Amino acid sequence: MSELIAAARDLAGELLGVGSERWCHSAGVAERAQELTGAVPADDRELLVAAAWLHDIGYAPELRETGFHPLDGADGLRAREWEPRVCALVAYHSGARFVAEDRGLLPELSRYSEEESPLTDALTYADQTVGPGGRRMTFDDRVADMLRRHGSDSPNARVHARRGPYLAAIADRVRARLGCIL
Ligand SMILES: [Fe+2]
Repeated sequence: MSELIAAARDLAGELLGVGSERWCHSAGVAERAQELTGAVPADDRELLVAAAWLHDIGYAPELRETGFHPLDGADGLRAREWEPRVCALVAYHSGARFVAEDRGLLPELSRYSEEESPLTDALTYADQTVGPGGRRMTFDDRVADMLRRHGSDSPNARVHARRGPYLAAIADRVRARLGCIL
């Protein structure tokens, strides 16, 4: 395991608690990301797995500032001097910008540069095919489960008309890059 991935795994464990439901989800997403490395350029593969470990650290009570976990996670990483690209991957994972807009947090999120690439697609696809506790799920089941858990009046539900097609397009691109349906 590379130093970057080990550092990401260790920080996730420290902040989320090894064995917690969020940690198990993150470990599952990291494992999934490892399987998706064929969908990203070789130079980005390490970053993909590291970002998968880190993507939900903003849920850690220690990092809670705005209550919007992609932003709190990115801010926590920036405070710990992680490289800007890792911070931005966490800030924008899984269509965070749609929810940030609904919550009035787009100006804060915009401190990070949004990247749209095979790397960001693979990170989001990994997150959208692993459920709470690290359970493997199909993309469609994961999205439906997310909407059920967050509730019909949640920001996630409010932005779903725009975020849903955005996520589905990512899933299509990743599957096409892999040349198969996972
Ligand atoms: Fe996640």
